[in-house]
Amino acid sequence: MMRITMIGTGYVGLVSGACFSDFGHDVICVDKDAAKIEKLEAGVMPIYEPGLDALVATNVKAGRLSFTTDLAAGVADADAVFIAVGTPSRRGDGHADLSYVYAASEEIAKAVKGKTVIVTKSTVPVGTGDEVERIMREGAPGKEIYVCSNPEFLREGAAIDDFKRPDRVVVGTEEEAAKEVMRAIYRPLYLNRSPILFTARRTSELIKYAANAFLATKITFINEIADLCEAVGANVQDVSRGIGLDGRIGAKFLHAGPGYGGSCFPKDTLALLKTADDYDTPVRIVEAVVQVNDARKRAMGRKVIKAMGGDVRGKTVGILGLTFKPNTDDMRDAPSLAVIQALQDAGATVKAHDPEGVEQAAKVLKDVEFVADPYAAADGADALVIVTEWDAYRALDLARLKGLLKTPVLVDLRNIYPIDEAEKAGFDYTSVGRGN
Ligand code: UGA
Repeated sequence: MMRITMIGTGYVGLVSGACFSDFGHDVICVDKDAAKIEKLEAGVMPIYEPGLDALVATNVKAGRLSFTTDLAAGVADADAVFIAVGTPSRRGDGHADLSYVYAASEEIAKAVKGKTVIVTKSTVPVGTGDEVERIMREGAPGKEIYVCSNPEFLREGAAIDDFKRPDRVVVGTEEEAAKEVMRAIYRPLYLNRSPILFTARRTSELIKYAANAFLATKITFINEIADLCEAVGANVQDVSRGIGLDGRIGAKFLHAGPGYGGSCFPKDTLALLKTADDYDTPVRIVEAVVQVNDARKRAMGRKVIKAMGGDVRGKTVGILGLTFKPNTDDMRDAPSLAVIQALQDAGATVKAHDPEGVEQAAKVLKDVEFVADPYAAADGADALVIVTEWDAYRALDLARLKGLLKTPVLVDLRNIYPIDEAEKAGFDYTSVGRGN
């Protein structure tokens, strides 16, 4: 059993803290936001993540997981302190904003007592660990402190499973004493045969950005191939299968769609470009990925307008799915934002359904009517657009939907319906990269 303190109860901190406690470690989660801590103590989760509330409840009950606003108390006896605070894109220049990481580091330095491993779990640009180490040396001179990097590879909506069954764990440290603690922390995974890869700290920091940039590239690649499929009359789903069966390419992350969104890919690709720029080593492929993806989200609005005959003034569009992907309530950089904006700019009225995202969506969308079920989104609308592939949309009663729509236009930006099924139901059906 290790004593772990997690600084920051955002997405990464909370999921990681809950999972570590489930491994049997003693975990204290610290956050400055007293209201959030109070809610967590009452069992109320600040985010929607399947299975998280039950995991937290079980471990709180077992006495392995607790919450506090008192950073110093949490840090004093810890074997390891994880920094999992936010690193948003800095306004204006796209650099990762590290002020929360450094502020937390300064407070930790003041509170450390015995041997402690400080772990950056937040996604931080190369060299951040060096700066955290400098802060520790200055703030806690002579103390036995090791600073290492341990990026996370969790997907929202599947975070607990990703945490417990990772493809790999990456730990950036060259100090044997720190490796020992990290091995003990991740021992349950080690036994499950998830490899732990130890690297130099800067390498580990870069692995995180390289992984996300590569995945964003894979998605963007297949999205452009999808456009080509439309032009030449090919089917992108078959192309994905055809190339994905090659083990060197791999089948995952080859689903064409409206462009990637979320809190990670857009932010991390930009931050990688900034680092590349700082070191005068451009990564042109990632530059292109960022541009192509931005343009794609806007283009999806035009695709819908075209499917509706080119003029949407005075028309109503029903949207199914607002969040950037299913099983989350996260609206950050969601493609739905660009699609809805384009439709509204062209004079359409929008009503929308989302199983979990309405509360967040209401904060960022204007003049959108939110409806309680998918059929209400179709009722009286001139077109229905699937933007996010929630399971709840995968087996809709197409005949009923068609009956509710004023005109039977269905735009499926996630390719979740077979073309023949949609056409047999009488829809004028448009999807992505399937030649229809
Ligand atoms: C992503 C990575 O997958 C995680 O490994 C990483 O830890 C995380 O970022 C992070 O840096 O914190 P996440 O943003 O939660 O996770 O979501 P993904 O499932 O990766 O999806 C990202 C976007 O790509 C979504 O908009 C999704 O719809 C889109 N996508 C994904 C596609 O359009 N096609 C695909 O084939 C896959």
